[in-house]
Amino acid sequence: MTTFTYSSTAPRDAAAGLLIVPVFEGPEPGPGVRETGTFEAYVAARHTGKKGENLLVTRGPADRYAADAVLLVGVGAKDGFDHGASRRSLGRVAGTARRFGTAATTFALASNARGAAEAVQAAAEGLGLGAYRFDRYRSKPDGKALSKITVLGSSRWDAAVLRAAVKRADVVVDAVAWARDLVNTPAGDLPPAAIAAQAKAMAAKVGLTCKVWTEAQLRQGGFGGILGVGKGSANPPRMIELRYDGAGRAAPIALSGKGITFDSGGLSLKPPDAMETMKCDMGGAASILATMKAIARLKPRINVIAAIPCSENMPSGTAQRPGDVITHRGGTTSEVLNTDAEGRLVLADALAYLAERKPQLIIDTATLTGACIVALGTDITGAFGNDDQLAHDLVAAGGAVGEPTWQMPLHTDYRPIIESTVADIKNIGKRYGGAITAALFLAEFVGDTPWVHLDIAGPAFSETGNDLGPKGATGAPVRTLVRFVLDRAAG
Ligand code: BES
Ligand code: MN
Ligand code: ZN
Repeated sequence: MTTFTYSSTAPRDAAAGLLIVPVFEGPEPGPGVRETGTFEAYVAARHTGKKGENLLVTRGPADRYAADAVLLVGVGAKDGFDHGASRRSLGRVAGTARRFGTAATTFALASNARGAAEAVQAAAEGLGLGAYRFDRYRSKPDGKALSKITVLGSSRWDAAVLRAAVKRADVVVDAVAWARDLVNTPAGDLPPAAIAAQAKAMAAKVGLTCKVWTEAQLRQGGFGGILGVGKGSANPPRMIELRYDGAGRAAPIALSGKGITFDSGGLSLKPPDAMETMKCDMGGAASILATMKAIARLKPRINVIAAIPCSENMPSGTAQRPGDVITHRGGTTSEVLNTDAEGRLVLADALAYLAERKPQLIIDTATLTGACIVALGTDITGAFGNDDQLAHDLVAAGGAVGEPTWQMPLHTDYRPIIESTVADIKNIGKRYGGAITAALFLAEFVGDTPWVHLDIAGPAFSETGNDLGPKGATGAPVRTLVRFVLDRAAG
């Protein structure tokens, strides 16, 4: 547990374990550098302020600052130093901050008063996200936790506004960490019923309405996709329904996320290598749960509902077969030609269910296709939709929070590719354009509701680690979704 605070005490007086200050290329000292008398050491080390040229200075008897040590962080050119660069630079040094237990940073002071709230939130997020570790399955803890993060600001800034910004960062970091925990948890320990139990506990804690649909209730409701995919598993499927009421009777925003707790491919079994990371296939579900948690804590004036389909995709004597036809919620039928194209089958039911509720818009997110990783690489989310303005707004939200998102074409000329000879549609396309044909499949279930689908097959899980976190789950696209919902609520 990390405590986040905002303070306008002078950098020299900040009583933190580690004081983190920026140095721009030149080198040019950023806020807090001269005051702590550490710039000479940085110059003596022949650093020039380039990204990654850092120097740790521990306090000596003659030094007159309160922190145990000062970390000077090279952040590159001053005019390229925006909120995203600040977040990432601090994310990269969060591991060092952990060694000191507590940290304060002057990074937000490099902004002007107008951008102060964003700067403060970004700085707190960078340290909070970068300090995340998943050590639940280790016999010894993975180092010290970062117990306190202090973002330093100017006494000329409005403290109430900036305390709210730090609070937002706290809520967002907590939500992202929870999404990461859920995704990092081995699939054997997190079957659909266990995710549903976590959702229920979360909802009770933060005050959301939660209904968990059991297998029998899903059968009654005609959720043939969720059931079909889950048929081969000993762990029965669930659908998690959540509601946040912040705006009376207004039409809600509707969210869904793919919750395949493990994707073996089913009878269209994946090769062993491709299965190694398939505990991540509930990354969409985890991100929607975490987004709902953050929304419940931030209380924007807007209504939000979520329907999260959870199944385990396993091969067995009871599994669905290639060639089987299933009937989705609402009556659309699909021919399952490849049981490894299962995400669209469970999402179809949830999207149809959400569209029935007449929301103002629908957003779904899913680790849906390897094809999207081929198209955009591992770091960029693909945004497909039937409404360009909505897709644009999500791309903008992603850009604002540093979760790169790119609009992709929902090219309706490709729709014939998913025509089936026996059912309304089939669940695979051809060799090329697989992310698009998957999105076209989903589009069948939203009617004319404005809708965007975020394919996070790449961004949900990092096999290398990145500036904002270690190897494993990333929590994408929680920050994009929270930002989008807050922006909508603000008008
Ligand atoms: N969960 C996978 C997609 C995926 C791949 C996510 C790599 C994360 C990393 C999805 O269910 C899948 O298997 N998709 C198939 C679809 C194909 C059979 C039409 C794919 O992308 O190969
Ligand atoms: Mn699959
Ligand atoms: Zn999958």
